[in-house]
Amino acid sequence: MNVDLTVNLSSLKMRNPLMLASGVLGNTGAILRRVAEAGAGAVVTKSIGVKPKKGYLNPTIVEVDCGFINAMGLPNPGVSEFIEELKIAKKSGVPVIASVFGSTEKEYAEVAYRMEEAGADAIELNLSCPHAGGLIQFSQDPKRTFDVVRAVKSAVKIPVFAKLTAEVTSIVEIGKAAERAGVDGVTAINTLRGMVIDIEVARPILSNKFGGLSGRAIKPIAIRCVYELYRELSIPIIGVGGILDFRDVVEFMMAGASAVQIGSAIAIKDLNIFREITVDLKRFMEEKGYKCLKDIIGLAHEEG
Ligand code: FUM
Repeated sequence: MNVDLTVNLSSLKMRNPLMLASGVLGNTGAILRRVAEAGAGAVVTKSIGVKPKKGYLNPTIVEVDCGFINAMGLPNPGVSEFIEELKIAKKSGVPVIASVFGSTEKEYAEVAYRMEEAGADAIELNLSCPHAGGLIQFSQDPKRTFDVVRAVKSAVKIPVFAKLTAEVTSIVEIGKAAERAGVDGVTAINTLRGMVIDIEVARPILSNKFGGLSGRAIKPIAIRCVYELYRELSIPIIGVGGILDFRDVVEFMMAGASAVQIGSAIAIKDLNIFREITVDLKRFMEEKGYKCLKDIIGLAHEEG
């Protein structure tokens, strides 16, 4: 049987549902191309702001039992310099999604507009970094989420996705605000605020003290969020958090994700993970008689 792994996400056409998550290897055009060559269906850049930003001092990442905690501090060269990297990334032939951040909706809109001009295929709004620039507050308040999405949607024609935090009472309320403002999809979830202490020196390890927890530890929370969002929203959901193999991808899709992002697992398995998952996912679908991804998206919501 011929299994179809292609995904149409708003106007994006992906050869498979696997994206590189923002913040992981997405800071140069050459690396983004390498990830595409390794088999990703789309790539998301590191989050880019209006001006260059140095980020935090080391240590900025630490491995924990079931994942990583990082606090980079949104280091980036600023949009004027990054657009050259974006143009290089575009040569990969897969959709390039520009992750953008700002301190006001005007800044988000400005960076998004410049990224669109430089050839970005879509925008992902980082509204949810749990430890830098106060970004998380955007997706902890429906009005602020609405305002940023509305401003960016008025500034660009390409699809806009909003990356949300699980650190809210109701992620559905935030997702609905984004949907009302015209967002084309939501990404769930960003890392969760955490801390690690070195007991020998009795101090937090990260220079920023607090960081964002990613990896296996957050997968069940991400699955729950995708499930809740799928039940209430009519726009596509991109699932992210702790994906390590094809089973995780199927789980996210059955919860309601139309596509997924992979980040921390690259540090564990390297870039071969994209090809490995594609092959395993195809085999699984063949064995189960699923012809295309639509056959599994949201399947866990069916009764009986
Ligand atoms: O520190 C960082 O640059 C992380 C950003 C994020 O988690 O969104």
